[in-house]
Amino acid sequence: MKRLAGKIAVVTGAASGIGLACMERFAAEGAQVIGADLQRGAARGLVQLDVRDEAAVAQLVQQVAREHGRLDVVVNAAGVAGGGPVHLLDAAAWDRVLDVNLKGTFLVCKHVLAQMLKQPAIDGERGAVVNVASIEGLEGTAGGSAYNASKGGVVLLTKNLAIDYGRSGIRANAICPGFIETPMLESVLGAPAMAGIRDEIRHEHKLRRFGRPEEIAAVACFLASADASFVSGQAIAVDGGFTAGRDPHVTELMGL
Ligand code: NAI
Repeated sequence: MKRLAGKIAVVTGAASGIGLACMERFAAEGAQVIGADLQRGAARGLVQLDVRDEAAVAQLVQQVAREHGRLDVVVNAAGVAGGGPVHLLDAAAWDRVLDVNLKGTFLVCKHVLAQMLKQPAIDGERGAVVNVASIEGLEGTAGGSAYNASKGGVVLLTKNLAIDYGRSGIRANAICPGFIETPMLESVLGAPAMAGIRDEIRHEHKLRRFGRPEEIAAVACFLASADASFVSGQAIAVDGGFTAGRDPHVTELMGL
């Protein structure tokens, strides 16, 4: 039996990277997936959606409910990078990151939850929310500012959802990826001048590599499925050991 057989799922940020991998994995696991993204993705049948546009978000949720009768799972993967030292950061750049990553996640959750509350529970569950936060929502990063603030916000918003909607049979969890090989990673670390920093960051993943979008999709699939029926309010780091602690090469000197 496929893990998400019969589930109706909406995935934002589905044109690229982690969102795309989630859409593909969910479909392979038997879900009917409605992918949405700011980028047009007609070839993949994506719905064009700006998660900052509340009327458009509401319309998409209503359309899914009309066409499919319910909405079981949402994955909020739409996001943008951005930050810098605070005293140099334009307020407009701050707003852009917070608007997409945090307010966009709020708006999608708001309308999806309203729908989930209306629908009958199946096997005791009305729905599952999976928000893609970041390890940068769990700890600080040099120059992270707006991005870390947005992802820290997503982590705590998710925990609040778990508290407020658990009694209605809705689970909410956040995934906190380490650095994952996607176009976003290239936009941040791809410049030749970043080569040394890129190596240092790779080193802090104790598996000594960056992650793959499919490795995040696998955890999203678990969280969306009945295998995670008692998992709610968690911020799960999927980071190859990045947040386990610092590794200043000491055990390498000891021959490990
Ligand atoms: P990506 O850049 O490959 O994909 C992000 C997608 O979000 C793009 O298709 C983009 O068009 C879409 N998007 C951006 N603004 C939007 C808006 N206003 N409305 C709708 N869609 C919009 O990035 P990636 O790496 O796949 O990121 C996915 C999520 O994972 C993001 O929330 C990101 O912050 C998070 N993340 C990524 C990490 C990485 O190392 N790649 C690490 C930790 C978290």
